[in-house]
Amino acid sequence: MRLRLVEDIRAIKRNDPASRGLDFLLYPCLHAMFNHRLIAHPLYRCRLFFLSRFFSQLSRFFTGIEIHPGATIDGGFFIDHGMGVVIGETARIGPNCVLFQGVTLGGTGKQKGKRHPSLGANVLVGTNATLLGPIEVGDNAKIGAETVVINRDIPANCTVVGTPGRIVRLNGRRVEPPEPLPLSGYRQSEKQTESEWEANYADNLLDDTAGSP
Ligand SMILES: CC(C)(COP(=O)(O)OP(=O)(O)OC[C@H]1O[C@@H](n2cnc3c(N)ncnc32)[C@H](O)[C@@H]1OP(=O)(O)O)[C@@H](O)C(=O)NCCC(=O)NCCS
Repeated sequence: MRLRLVEDIRAIKRNDPASRGLDFLLYPCLHAMFNHRLIAHPLYRCRLFFLSRFFSQLSRFFTGIEIHPGATIDGGFFIDHGMGVVIGETARIGPNCVLFQGVTLGGTGKQKGKRHPSLGANVLVGTNATLLGPIEVGDNAKIGAETVVINRDIPANCTVVGTPGRIVRLNGRRVEPPEPLPLSGYRQSEKQTESEWEANYADNLLDDTAGSP
């Protein structure tokens, strides 16, 4: 955990040219990660859920960054500015990811269990972007400011922008016209279950009408 904090400090220096000397100590993301890595997440892993939430809410009060104590975050993580960031309980963030202020890694409110996004390595998420559902974001993906992605996976090495998010760059090449994102696997099975249920419902309705006098 301590090693990851050192990587977080390096990430501040790497990602923010404005950082000089010891001013990395003043960054809210460092305060939030200090709390998450050394206090809230270890308490959560010991199943001390109230205490872990207490410290994560305390950290939110001081930094404006809300990280659920259950979230798993690899080293080299940087949140620029910080205010308004929300990271859900089952979110996973790979090494060297960068988020800007106002980013939401949230749930749709429909899934249980794993319900928040998983980010690969070196992912950048621009200001106020909203990613909802247990979606997979591939390594080196860039998600533009104000982008919205719900129930769609984001391939590796691509840039996604807009609402709904579309691929505008893949493996360094422009994608013209922008391509839609692929539906996430869990959403495909949900849709299949929905259509099976609708088909069964229609069958039952037909049987009932046929049987009525
Ligand atoms: C997505 C981003 C990382 C750029 O990635 P990139 O791979 O270099 O992509 P490009 O800059 O080549 O952009 C490709 C196209 O998408 C457009 N685009 C880029 N970001 C966009 C966004 N957030 N919303 C809509 N369109 C966007 C570009 O204008 C460009 O189209 P154009 O050539 O017709 O102008 C960057 O635009 C971004 O949004 N960064 C977030 C930074 C941030 O949040 N800063 C806050 C500081 S306080």
